[in-house]
Amino acid sequence: MKTIGVVGSGQMGGGIAQVLAQSSKEVLLFDSNQSQLANGLKAISGRIDKLVEKSKITKDDGSKVLARIKTVSSISELKPADLIIEAIVENTEAKVALFKELDQTLSANTVLASNTSSISITKLAAATKRPDKVVGMHFMHPVPVMSLVELIRGLQTSDETYESILKLTKEIGKTPITAKFDYPAFIVNRILVPMINEAVFVLMEGISTVEEIDNSMKLGTNHPMGPLELADFVGLDTVLSICKILHSELGDDKYRPCPLLTKYVEAGWYGRKSGRGFYKY
Ligand code: CAA
Repeated sequence: MKTIGVVGSGQMGGGIAQVLAQSSKEVLLFDSNQSQLANGLKAISGRIDKLVEKSKITKDDGSKVLARIKTVSSISELKPADLIIEAIVENTEAKVALFKELDQTLSANTVLASNTSSISITKLAAATKRPDKVVGMHFMHPVPVMSLVELIRGLQTSDETYESILKLTKEIGKTPITAKFDYPAFIVNRILVPMINEAVFVLMEGISTVEEIDNSMKLGTNHPMGPLELADFVGLDTVLSICKILHSELGDDKYRPCPLLTKYVEAGWYGRKSGRGFYKY
């Protein structure tokens, strides 16, 4: 896989594009929102500048990485890509609509991967006429730093598609771990999101404060970030949507979203990206 299309230039898509370009892949970066696309590219450029400042890469290599990322303004311009990695908003309808459009527009050989953190790969695959070529490739935030990529096979994913993604993940210096079944939220978020949700319950019930909940988990379990800080980091809207998928698809009330989490999202307090979550930024 030499040329890879990334759809969505937010924190995940931008990070994925950067990591691919640093591994010598040609990247076509698309976002339906032009100003988001410009911001995404600016953020990548800023991160590359920091790597140059810290002498992690040379100025020349930094320029080469950036030159490998080409922004495009339509889905049809993604045609040269061997693989598309979708990293748009965590919303089933939006992803299904995008997979239909990608399927109708791109060559039948193009593999379609989703960076979804919780949505059924089987469902996304079923929205296309190439279900065997659809697979889950879930990166962690911040993508340039985190080693793991969860790989998820839908019921229809072929061995060939899975093997190609496994190979690519290793090629770009990441560590693949495969979820054996395509069940909601896979491995990491099935464990992480209920923990974050429980931390919000602990806050709502007045058992502890934001700072002390986070410090408890940092000092008591050596987590690099406390659960509330991590929720702000990932995005409270994303955490809530994963909670809702776990709750509705597994049908167990232990996954019910904490009302305080829902309130924060209703208020537009999404965490770092909106300037306010459990902390102010
Ligand atoms: N992009 C690129 N690089 C970044 C970065 C970003 N957004 N944030 C930090 N870094 C880099 C820094 O530049 C620094 O690099 P060097 O070591 O080369 O100098 C390194 O990461 C460490 O950063 P800092 O010293 O600034 O801060 P830190 O030591 O506190 O580490 C952290 C920051 C890596 C984010 C750390 O706090 C951490 O690991 N937090 C937990 C992250 C986590 O759990 N991610 C998974 C979230 S779950 C998920 O993503 C799944 C989902 O679907 C919701």
